[in-house]
Amino acid sequence: MTYAFSPLSFVPRESELVISQERASDVPAREQLLDAAFGQARFQKTCERLRAGRVPAAGLSLVAHVDGELAGTIRFWHVQAGGLPALLLGPVAVNEAQRSLGIGRKLIAEGLFRAVQAGHKAVILVGDAPYYNRFGFERSLTRGLMLPGPVDEARFLGLELDPGAMADARGLVAACGVRASRSPSAALEGGILRRAA
Ligand SMILES: CC(C)(COP(=O)(O)OP(=O)(O)OC[C@H]1O[C@@H](n2cnc3c(N)ncnc32)[C@H](O)[C@@H]1OP(=O)(O)O)[C@@H](O)C(=O)NCCC(=O)NCCS
Repeated sequence: MTYAFSPLSFVPRESELVISQERASDVPAREQLLDAAFGQARFQKTCERLRAGRVPAAGLSLVAHVDGELAGTIRFWHVQAGGLPALLLGPVAVNEAQRSLGIGRKLIAEGLFRAVQAGHKAVILVGDAPYYNRFGFERSLTRGLMLPGPVDEARFLGLELDPGAMADARGLVAACGVRASRSPSAALEGGILRRAA
């Protein structure tokens, strides 16, 4: 909370949180945030194999701004999860100084809402179950699936946006997003130049 001066008193003013579709102008701040949150190890993660050279799912790259400054990021990617068209969630990160204020929860909830609106049926991710359970992500839904690299299986989670969608999901998870073109702007949007875990 910040305080704005008034002739009569100091009036409390709530910081303004805005969640919106990411724009090209957000990319440098997004990359800085991801570097701070994950370090260079983010480029080595197994999920990166599903994102490398691909464009994120349309309309599902979101950013959170607080008072005009980028405070959080989330992106989703197209994958085939054992033959089932699905989304891969990640990375999601919030500026360290602004954590535990509900920004992560709002980014994820808004992303999942938009995913449902766009007709997506299922979402997978690699992350901490104690955090993602609150959104309905479960380990049980991904037991028949394999990722294209090493993963702590307890952190490989799934969520059905359409109940029952993952019932028959078996096999390897593979990238299937639109390939990023070689133009610099598309490469930035697709994450070719700097990829996040
Ligand atoms: C995970 C992250 C995005 C959550 O963002 P946030 O804005 O702090 O989240 P929220 O305010 O919605 O939720 C905060 C709550 O989640 C809990 N939480 C945060 N990360 C957690 C984790 N990894 N496991 C379990 N609980 C976690 C906090 O303790 C807090 O609990 P409380 O509400 O009981 O105080 C943020 O902590 C972050 O950027 N972390 C570093 C990057 C990262 O780990 N990303 C996730 C990759 S799997």
